[in-house]
Amino acid sequence: MDNKATIWAIVPAAGIGTRMQADKPKQYLALGSGTVLSHSLQRLASHPAISGIIVALAEHDPWWPTIEQNYPCPIITTIGGSTRADSVLYGLQTLATQTEDAWALVHDAARPCLRHSDIDKMLSILLPHPVGGILGMPVSDTMKRVNVDGTIINTVSRDGLWRAATPQLFRATALQQALISAKEKGQQVTDEASAMELSGHQPLMVAGHADNIKITLPQDLALAEHYLQQQEKV
Ligand code: CTP
Ligand code: MG
Repeated sequence: MDNKATIWAIVPAAGIGTRMQADKPKQYLALGSGTVLSHSLQRLASHPAISGIIVALAEHDPWWPTIEQNYPCPIITTIGGSTRADSVLYGLQTLATQTEDAWALVHDAARPCLRHSDIDKMLSILLPHPVGGILGMPVSDTMKRVNVDGTIINTVSRDGLWRAATPQLFRATALQQALISAKEKGQQVTDEASAMELSGHQPLMVAGHADNIKITLPQDLALAEHYLQQQEKV
């Protein structure tokens, strides 16, 4: 294991939460004693292996100053882009001004229930790995491919199918290159692993807990609240 590895978290938080249909971006909605974003940041900042966090915010974000600002590691903000991939790329460019040769642990602002045990598992499996990898879960439902009119075309085999979550852990410079290369070629990437895959790398999938949900729809907030309470009981 690379015991001397420097690890920074990159948190894309520049989205507007269209599907959430709230009066502000979902990362700023109340959750437990804080907000969705403050929980996500706290989970990362309180992990002893994480040296600092770069948060990518929307330009002129009026909500950031209103949320918790006290975390047990340095937090640097930067301006995000019009896609998640751009927000992560700008975060990595900011990271490059802070430290060389770091690992970037990219984590969605909208996943406030991340467990320290899942970060530990990722670090022990991925820091010795030549590429890095991501947290995910095997799919458990029967999978169907469906037409735009709702007609089922066929049943897709579940074998080897996983849902990609975050964190996603890669060497910062390699990930930055992969994201730039995807952008230059006009390839849309919805996670960091897909940028790495398009650059010819083979990231690893690490099985995480199913309670690491991404808050996307209105009903997800109550579920996250429930998971946070359950986690406190353990
Ligand atoms: N994100 C970002 N920059 C963007 C778009 C998304 O930093 N231009 C961030 C979001 O803030 C979120 C994460 O990427 O933390 C995952 O994106 P998603 O769940 O799709 O959030 P939104 O794009 O805000 O939601 P929606 O797609 O419903 O609009
Ligand atoms: Mg989105």
